[in-house]
Amino acid sequence: MTMTVIEARSLTKTYLTQAEQVVALNEVNLTVKTGDFIIINGPSGSGKTTFLNLISGLDLPSAGEVLLNGQVLHTLSDNQRTELRLRQIGLIFQSFELIPVLTVFENVEYPLVLQRLPRSERRNRVNRILAKVGLEKMANRFPAQLSGGQKQRVGIARALVTRPQIVLADEPTGSLDSSTGEQILRLMLELNNTYKVSFLIVTHDQAMKKYARRLLEIRDGVLTEKECYTDVQDRLSQYSAQ
Ligand SMILES: Nc1ncnc2c1ncn2[C@@H]1O[C@H](COP(=O)(O)OP(=O)(O)O)[C@@H](O)[C@H]1O
Ligand SMILES: [Mg+2]
Repeated sequence: MTMTVIEARSLTKTYLTQAEQVVALNEVNLTVKTGDFIIINGPSGSGKTTFLNLISGLDLPSAGEVLLNGQVLHTLSDNQRTELRLRQIGLIFQSFELIPVLTVFENVEYPLVLQRLPRSERRNRVNRILAKVGLEKMANRFPAQLSGGQKQRVGIARALVTRPQIVLADEPTGSLDSSTGEQILRLMLELNNTYKVSFLIVTHDQAMKKYARRLLEIRDGVLTEKECYTDVQDRLSQYSAQ
């Protein structure tokens, strides 16, 4: 059964600077269902990071609202929002945001420590997800000893280890070369299939659009749905490869 995970309703964010008022997001509506694989494509400064910060409750809207599992985020306390984010949302960043003094295993384990899970449960979950992202042999390395693609695999494992309902990724391929970036997108698609966890990816990278199961564009804070022929393209490319 598909369910609504996140709903943005008339979401608006304005920033006041000394000189002017910037409308970073303008009445954005979006409903994310279980198992969705959504890509939002838009140029630098179009409002992508602002949108993710509001969706995850890291920042509060100027108008409109975000519902996570039917709960309106801005009516919760900071602590309640933090708790909800830790349990329901996985975050992936352009610059990975790994903790340099922790090993790969410890980085992935960290959110489970915050959740106060018992050590044996933590070890099981970390080992399983590291195997899924192909890093089982790297568990004892430190981030500085990894390639960019490997670092982002750690980021993906850390986002999924808490078994969230949705993973939000902000320019996940922005620090990677194009072929590594495509591998990362394919891994995310595979994990979306395996775990039925929703993915919402924002990127300025046009090359990532072909991986969308649902594609939207954002320009100057305005979000628009694009027609998505991905499924047809998949079948055509398989057909022509025969
Ligand atoms: N803290 C802030 N103060 C003022 N303006 C901001 C702030 N954060 C973002 N903006 C502005 O909001 C717009 C959207 O920014 P952002 O969401 O970071 O875009 P993107 O992630 O697509 O590059 C830009 O015009 C940016 O300059
Ligand atoms: Mg951004």
